[in-house]
Amino acid sequence: MAERELSVAILAAGKGTRMRSRLPKVLHKLGSLSLIERLLRTVLTLKPHRCLVIVGYEQEQVRQALREYPVEFVEQAQQLGTGHAVQQLLPVLGEFQGDLLVINGDVPLLRVETLQALVEHHRRMNPAVTLLSAQVVDPYGYGRVFCDAQQRVLELVEERDCTPAQRQNRRINSGVYCFHWPALAQVLPHLNRNNAQQEYYLTDAVKRVGKAIALDVADPQEIVGINDRRQLAQAYQILQDRLKEDWMEAGVTFVDPDSSSLEETVELAPDVIIEPQTHLRGVCRIGPGTRLGPGSWIESSEIGSGCHILYSVVSHSRIGNQVWIGPYAHVRPHSQIGDHCRIGNFVETKNAQIGSHSNAAHLAYLGDAKLGSQVNIGAGTIIANYDGQQKHFTEIGDRSKTGANSVLVAPLQVGSDVTIAAGSTIPARYPLPDDCLVIARSRPVVKPGWRLGIRSSRPQEPQPIPPGSLKIYPLRLFPGQDLKQELERVARQQPLQAGFVLSAVGSLSQATLRLADQTEDHLLSERLEILALSGSLCPDGVHLHLTVADARGQTWGGHLRPGCLIYTTAEIVLADSPEYRFSRQPDPATGYPELHIQPVAGDPYWSSPLSQPKQNPQTKEDSVPLTRTEDTVTGIPS
Ligand code: UD1
Ligand code: CA
Repeated sequence: MAERELSVAILAAGKGTRMRSRLPKVLHKLGSLSLIERLLRTVLTLKPHRCLVIVGYEQEQVRQALREYPVEFVEQAQQLGTGHAVQQLLPVLGEFQGDLLVINGDVPLLRVETLQALVEHHRRMNPAVTLLSAQVVDPYGYGRVFCDAQQRVLELVEERDCTPAQRQNRRINSGVYCFHWPALAQVLPHLNRNNAQQEYYLTDAVKRVGKAIALDVADPQEIVGINDRRQLAQAYQILQDRLKEDWMEAGVTFVDPDSSSLEETVELAPDVIIEPQTHLRGVCRIGPGTRLGPGSWIESSEIGSGCHILYSVVSHSRIGNQVWIGPYAHVRPHSQIGDHCRIGNFVETKNAQIGSHSNAAHLAYLGDAKLGSQVNIGAGTIIANYDGQQKHFTEIGDRSKTGANSVLVAPLQVGSDVTIAAGSTIPARYPLPDDCLVIARSRPVVKPGWRLGIRSSRPQEPQPIPPGSLKIYPLRLFPGQDLKQELERVARQQPLQAGFVLSAVGSLSQATLRLADQTEDHLLSERLEILALSGSLCPDGVHLHLTVADARGQTWGGHLRPGCLIYTTAEIVLADSPEYRFSRQPDPATGYPELHIQPVAGDPYWSSPLSQPKQNPQTKEDSVPLTRTEDTVTGIPS
């Protein structure tokens, strides 16, 4: 006999009262797919001649949900029972001569192999109908099937119509039938509603159609019909068990299978470890040796080999190999994380491409960005990608580092090997060329005595020094005072940290100078005008040169020595820089105590590069030898 054509009818017009839902029952989700979609996907692999879906209750929703599937919809305007539903096919199938697979729309776990076996059995035995039956532990709610030894159906009774004795039968009707359509078409018009539910039963047609046989399904879990939420949960459990068993067979570890879940669209390589409370959704591909969880949610993402994702969420992203994510990271859609990266504690990425060996280990937001390789994102770094209206893009070159708590306002292009100082806010579009240090933060404003006033006896914290600040010491000297001794006294008593002379005028009754390249002092015993005085002062000593003019206006100049006595007055202005500390230290190169300049310790980013200790001690442009050791107040021996 030539093989008959096969069409399929799915019954999906009922409301599903027991679900207590506004959604038609067949549209309830079991995992990612609705009940009817699961069934349809299975059925369509049989490549039926026609696939008819009978719709009624909320039919617009059902039609809409199935619009992408190659099915024809048949309306059952009033839902008067499963038999009534199939009656609607009479005008649609007409003179169809083939077999019709009738399936209740609420049986989502059916396997295609089972349907194939049913159809084959039907064609081999050639009855009017073959129904799929099952021997179950708990037959409650199902129609019971009574057969003879040849599996010929003698009786078919709905739960509600059963006698107590009949209820003991554990062989149930799965709601899946293979009819020879011409036979079914003949009996359909003659169904009646003489039953407990006052409905047209499809099971009534089975009894009337002629030879009916039953075929037991091997795995009764397959034919679970979903009538209420409890059965929905049971079906989900069955589905999960099936999936996990398959993956365990393929070499995947589930540490605590019942606490994790996944979908059919997930692909796991051997040696993947799924830790407890880990859930995978959508199309995922996970590489060998990768450990997911505990406590992670992975959605529609590709993850390479040897990764570990701990207490984190990854969605619609690609993760390379040997990547560590978490704990508590959120990798949001369109993130691409390169090999050997670390996306650590409380880090969020979104539309971020991150090159290999890069780290963002703590508390960061990386959105709409492209990072090179070996980039280090400091704790608290934020890419401010949104200006309130639009998102903007940020690029960070290889090996660049952002300091803790830096804000990168997009759009921004950060070069390679850039260092961004902690606490910096980089304005949008600010040029940051390769290999630079950028410090972009405001200077602290320190207001002493703000709360407790100067009465506070607490030791003062050293305060950062604003660059360029000077302290000024104006002096007036009186007749008879020794110019050099007075200046040494001031330098010692204030003390002057890094003092120098700003200006000096006055007169002397006598001057003692050491002239250039001389070893002895030169005494000028006449009245002289002070024209200029310059040099440095610190508690260790002073180094000053004096210019004076005599009665003829001729000048003498040399090294200031004790013995310069004030005649009328001297008006001197000294300055002190708090940014430096001068001292006199023995210099083996000259044999004299020389000026030593030390920047005051503080924020290295604020120190002028000029203040750094000299690289080459042989270059001594600013160091002037003291000619005599006795010139220093502290008397550093030479
Ligand atoms: C039905 C069977 C029962 C079987 C069980 C298996 C009948 C009379 N009973 O009972 O023997 O054990 O399935 O799961 O067939 N539907 C329509 N239009 C209607 C009524 C129902 O399309 O007027 C659809 C529903 O949407 C559902 C399917 O038919 O998808 C089954 O209906 P349901 O009410 O769940 O039947 P059961 O009581 O489970
Ligand atoms: Ca049902």
